[in-house]
Amino acid sequence: MSAPELDSLQGELLNAIASAPDLAKLEDVRIAALGRKGHVAALMEQLGALSAHERRSFGQAVNTLKDAVSAALEQKRQELTQIALSVQLAAEQADVTLPVRPGPLAEGSIHPVSQVMDEITEIFADMGFSIAEGPDIETDFNNFTALNIPPEHPARQDHDTFYFAERPDGTRPVLRTHTSPVQIRTMLANKPPLRVIAPGRVYRSDSDQTHTPMFHQVEGLVIDEETHLGHLKWVLEEFCKAFFEIQDVKMRFRASHFPFTEPSMEVDIGYSKQGDEIRIGEGDQWLEILGCGMVHPNVLRNVELDPERYQGFAFGMGIDRIAMLKYGMPDLRAFFAGDLCWLKHYGFMPLAVPTLAAGLSS
Ligand code: PHE
Repeated sequence: MSAPELDSLQGELLNAIASAPDLAKLEDVRIAALGRKGHVAALMEQLGALSAHERRSFGQAVNTLKDAVSAALEQKRQELTQIALSVQLAAEQADVTLPVRPGPLAEGSIHPVSQVMDEITEIFADMGFSIAEGPDIETDFNNFTALNIPPEHPARQDHDTFYFAERPDGTRPVLRTHTSPVQIRTMLANKPPLRVIAPGRVYRSDSDQTHTPMFHQVEGLVIDEETHLGHLKWVLEEFCKAFFEIQDVKMRFRASHFPFTEPSMEVDIGYSKQGDEIRIGEGDQWLEILGCGMVHPNVLRNVELDPERYQGFAFGMGIDRIAMLKYGMPDLRAFFAGDLCWLKHYGFMPLAVPTLAAGLSS
């Protein structure tokens, strides 16, 4: 091939590169030019038939062509990649201000229990509490023994426990019957001062109009060297005012008994019912929402804390109960029935995250 022929081949190839409309077409051009059976390979094959002198100058000319084509290919490849990216970005543009299209996606809502958990977390976080967690499947030790409920203690019967099969080491795990084992986990893993809440699921073998075998509690625990019963009452009153979003919440503290607190109390909230509507802070009906008290010295000993030095309070509140009260839902079982109509009526907007500043349930 003569020098002018080489020039015109180079011109053709550069033209083809310049006019390649997309990356796939460009790859075709590359294979035709530089591939195993392409133009450059064919030119190289001709080298063998040439004299040593011709071979040198022809080889150089082919190399020059190859370099020019490679450089043009690379430049075009970058250009086309940029264009492909811009096209893709433009195609994927979404106007987030558009309303959600009707259809199954628009049905999604936040379950009142999730909403109420977020509200509770927000209120206690504002008071300086952090979140603690524990598993639903607990050891007998954490759920009972460490909480001053030894084997054979009558309180174990009250809990209608779901037991698992015995393990090889003779222990029997349980589905936690309350969130109180998170107290034990927290005190074993951290040194006082402690200020935590622990929301989560709990399980009891019990089912009727006001009981479901799975329900939700939030545990609270404060341990330091000076916290007393007055602090407990204040925290619970402040919580109720913030949660129910009214200044006058009627609360009743009744003496009670729990093996893990001393003294112990149960707290009721006053409400009235007009027809199916529940009003908080009025009327003379009471709903029990929580148990609480000062952490029992035996519990502190069980987690190797000195009761002469440390003290504090704990409470366990029924999340489903306070959700019913606040949002006026009459039947607890509907919470777990997964009825779309119910969820549509009582559910919350996914983007309306509760904050104290913006209003918890607005
Ligand atoms: N764990 C108790 C229950 O489920 C509630 C409670 C928690 C009481 C913490 C006192 C202190 O009934």
